[in-house]
Amino acid sequence: MRFTPDFIERVRDASNIVDLFSEFTELKRSGGRLMGLCPFPGHNEKTPSFSVSEEKQVYHCFGCKRSGQIYTALQELKGFNFPEAVEYLANKAGIPIPAEAKSNHESTAAKSRREQLLKVNGVTRDRYHSALLKLPADHPARAYAKKRGLTEDIIELFSLGYAPAQKDALAREMQRLKAPLNLAEHLGLVKPDRNGNGHYDMFRDRLMFPVISHKGDCVGFGGRALSDAQQPKYLNSAESDVFQKGQIFYGLNETAKYIRSENFAVVVEGYMDFLALFAAGIQNVVATLGTAMTESHAKLLKRYSPNVVVLYDGDDAGVNGAERSLPILLGQNLLAKAVFLPDELDPDEFIKERGADALSALLRSANDLFSLVLQRRLAYFRGTASEKVTLLNDLTPLLESVSDPRLKELYIAEIAQKIGVEPNWIGKHLGALATTPPQKSATLARSQVPVTPQEAADVQSMGPRINLNGVPRAELFLLNLSLADRETFEKVMASEAVHELSHPGVQELFLKANTFYRQMPNEFDKLSAYLMTIAEPVQSLALHLGEPLSSMAGEVRVQFLEDCIRQIRTKYLQFKSRELAASLTAAPVDEEQKKKLEQIMNMQKSKHHLRRDREL
Ligand code: GTP
Ligand code: MN
Repeated sequence: MRFTPDFIERVRDASNIVDLFSEFTELKRSGGRLMGLCPFPGHNEKTPSFSVSEEKQVYHCFGCKRSGQIYTALQELKGFNFPEAVEYLANKAGIPIPAEAKSNHESTAAKSRREQLLKVNGVTRDRYHSALLKLPADHPARAYAKKRGLTEDIIELFSLGYAPAQKDALAREMQRLKAPLNLAEHLGLVKPDRNGNGHYDMFRDRLMFPVISHKGDCVGFGGRALSDAQQPKYLNSAESDVFQKGQIFYGLNETAKYIRSENFAVVVEGYMDFLALFAAGIQNVVATLGTAMTESHAKLLKRYSPNVVVLYDGDDAGVNGAERSLPILLGQNLLAKAVFLPDELDPDEFIKERGADALSALLRSANDLFSLVLQRRLAYFRGTASEKVTLLNDLTPLLESVSDPRLKELYIAEIAQKIGVEPNWIGKHLGALATTPPQKSATLARSQVPVTPQEAADVQSMGPRINLNGVPRAELFLLNLSLADRETFEKVMASEAVHELSHPGVQELFLKANTFYRQMPNEFDKLSAYLMTIAEPVQSLALHLGEPLSSMAGEVRVQFLEDCIRQIRTKYLQFKSRELAASLTAAPVDEEQKKKLEQIMNMQKSKHHLRRDREL
């Protein structure tokens, strides 16, 4: 998806940031703004320091200093990337997505089929969920949920459900709703009867876990047997046009925000482990759906954090699974750690036996998965020459998957130290370190530094944003004072200072601001949110929302603005006169040279005046 700036603004216009935040926190009017407890994960507070400006459609937290506009809010709170945030709000406001913005791999027909499939899944999820809620407390499914520690809150949040025991409860319901049964069949929810007498249900008498995409669509299901008598223990709905197990994590739609705020993701292997961790307060977790980790999985995780802790069962299957995920994670430049639980406990059992704090402690002290793999290979290692060669052969594919050259070097050093050889010996035989020309490895290193979640999200958004790093203070404050109110903005736009800015990002931003304002002079308030969308970091544009600017008295503010302008002018004149001086050649003095000299003198005079003004 790629949206035009006009469309992005139109959608923003049709949305209200206050409605969005009201879903997450209670906002109360206080002074000129709405205040509430900060809704962002990771910032738990007792007195409100989170502010929203309805006029400007921006937010700022005086406590954790987060700020931004409605799109950044959606990215942080719901884990959307930028285009998804736009699409979400457009849908909410009933604004049709322009055809040219839609990905062109997917035809309209395919798209509408997809939508229908999702609808069938959605209906099914609701059916199963209300079926569970309607059961009496002593029903085996209810009792089972209780035994497994699934509280009402968890049942609600994850829309857990119950597939009734009848042969065709869902199939009948589909017929009643006139839902296309062929779609339900494609989704693996029902199957045609062998004798051609209608359809029967695939999930019967099971506790149901709907699998929700990060956009909030139900794409598939997992169903757990209620007793050992029923086989298989877990049944997942079939792979379909909307459900590929290798491309989705269970729970990520709810937990993306916690992964961002904790800055690491815990990956577990199943629904119950996921829910056990979540219920115990370890919420930065996702689960694979009984499949091995794939490259798509790793790419998904990378959107939210570069750090991953794999938490699989401590048995051989778990350790092997973790080991297989290592090259996939390393290949995406993720920093992979792992915890293997003792005594063959799975995460759910571990929490029940030893508590969530014990698990948290293990997660925080997790060792690199690579080191654990190496340790495992060294279990029977005695140090013979042939063992060293065999080991290196063994580890070569793994080392080659490491795309961060710095990490690769450290891992090589670790192997070298453990097996008693020189790192160079490994490098030489790996062919990688020794043969990479230094220049190439330097650029690699830069482009492959683990990305922050924000960067990762931006990559898939609207292309590069205007960069506001390294802006001189005077220019930063000039920009922010301009955004605070319309009078100041006009005053600044009329001043010389806007033509004398040194930072290219600020220059560009003032140009954009000017165009925006000229097109919509009555919409000054929308300027902040607009600029926060096209530039980063947003914090540089949020200074006018925080202290000390937001509460600066009128006169002080005017004085401060003038100081900023003066500083910018002084710096500019200094720069210009130096530039001119450098271009002056030696005699003979011609007309042009004379003019330049005169200009320099004038500049010196202006600079002098500026300084005198200040002393007054
Ligand atoms: P509980 O026994 O309910 O605690 O689940 P668990 O997570 O401890 O089970 P296990 O480690 O056996 O399974 C992990 C994941 O593998 C599950 O969440 C399922 O996605 C998948 N899985 C397990 N058993 C089966 C099975 O019999 N069939 C299929 N298709 N998947 C399974
Ligand atoms: Mn278990």
